[in-house]
Amino acid sequence: MSAPREQFGSKIGFILAAAGSAVGIGNIVGFPVAAAKNGGAAFLLIYACFVAFICLPVMLAEMGLGRRTQHSPQKAYTELGEGLTRWKIAGFLATFTPFMIAVFYMVITVWIFGYLFQSIIGNLDLIASEGYFNTFVKEMSFLGYLVAVIAITYLILLGGVRNGIERASKVLMPALFIMLILLVIFVLTLDGASAGLKFYLVPDFSRIDGSVINGALSQAFFSLSLGMGILITYGSYFRRNDDIVTSAKLVAITDTSVAFIAGLMTLPAIFAIFPNTNVDTLSTSSVSMVFSFFPNIFLALSETIGYVPASIAATLFFLLAFVAAITSLVSIIEVPTSSLMEKRNISRKKALMIIGTLITVLTLIAATSFGIVPWLTQFAHYAGVDKSVFDIINDVFYDTILPLNGLLICLFVRFRWKRAQLTAELSEGNPDYGNSWFGKYVNVAIGTFIPVILAAVFINTVLTKFFGISII
Ligand code: PHE
Repeated sequence: MSAPREQFGSKIGFILAAAGSAVGIGNIVGFPVAAAKNGGAAFLLIYACFVAFICLPVMLAEMGLGRRTQHSPQKAYTELGEGLTRWKIAGFLATFTPFMIAVFYMVITVWIFGYLFQSIIGNLDLIASEGYFNTFVKEMSFLGYLVAVIAITYLILLGGVRNGIERASKVLMPALFIMLILLVIFVLTLDGASAGLKFYLVPDFSRIDGSVINGALSQAFFSLSLGMGILITYGSYFRRNDDIVTSAKLVAITDTSVAFIAGLMTLPAIFAIFPNTNVDTLSTSSVSMVFSFFPNIFLALSETIGYVPASIAATLFFLLAFVAAITSLVSIIEVPTSSLMEKRNISRKKALMIIGTLITVLTLIAATSFGIVPWLTQFAHYAGVDKSVFDIINDVFYDTILPLNGLLICLFVRFRWKRAQLTAELSEGNPDYGNSWFGKYVNVAIGTFIPVILAAVFINTVLTKFFGISII
């Protein structure tokens, strides 16, 4: 007989845990840079509309499916899909995708930890030196940082839903907000910060085109942790009488606010230190911004405020990024862990050992694809470029499968579970939902234009990423 399913202890615990998952390095660097490059407030406006009108309904469907079935994604789809192969595939994808993304995210979190460690011990000049990142990724110290990150993640997850994930989120999320606000205040006091604010906040609609719109939607989708099975799993830990709708709205608002506020730190910092920055030349990759660009900002800052205060600012920045990353990592590893516990009827500890070992092995393979092992570095060649194992995981799972998973849940609600059932599920804990304008909107949108839009994003991504053809 298996133990009763664990539950979050409170609504705020659930909201903080889901927000912890949603707030990641995508919010802190990816979003602000994308906004600056793509029309500032114009991008912000489009992004906010996508969050409210496309992502939020998908989020509700994921959480609703989880709570309805009280299962992790694979079993949830199998049970409500009455064992039909197509829904089993959807369940498999919603479990396998987070597993692979966990590998990708683990590598980045380990690097952040490494940079945090180096800033703490006073090596800001080293991490900011030309070409350091390329050397850093090949160093054996990766193993030490990896062990530390695995230990922290393991300890949080071993505590389970209430004593692990919820408890950690209740400490880490407020800490994250405080660090973010401190950094924003600090950055805004620097001379020249206002140039960055201008780029960020003044709308420029001329920059909006098809690819910007596609990018904004993908960014919003990824930022809210959709399509990763996370919200199905967290939904399954939600209590029957809790209000999913309000909680989901609060998670979306928190995630978007953190992204917005992070822009008030990231862009003014860039422009205060490098006033002649051309936004078009900023990298779209969060990885290269965090590891190659930011250390330079802090080092340059040391010329005006001194090396130690600049090192403290750098430490605070990497700690912020690390907290954001670790809460996301925890949520994503919980998906395969909870699936395995359910499937094999084994303890959390045993499931964590198995999943942890698999992810560690794959992380080492992905990490060594940074120039250490040549055939992993040039593992495949498509769309005219050589791709490493790390690039492939990014292209296939992050960019391509996430919108596909979103599409599948919409189709599942429309054709199998039925929209009336979703509405009934969401009305538990929020009795007015079905008659509200938002409830009616979700009911129509999730079965009509949202899947069409997600299908278009999916097809466009496949064509651009793998065949080098852009249709939008
Ligand atoms: N929402 C996270 C971000 O913005 C993405 C993510 C969530 C990645 C969970 C992995 C796991 O960075």
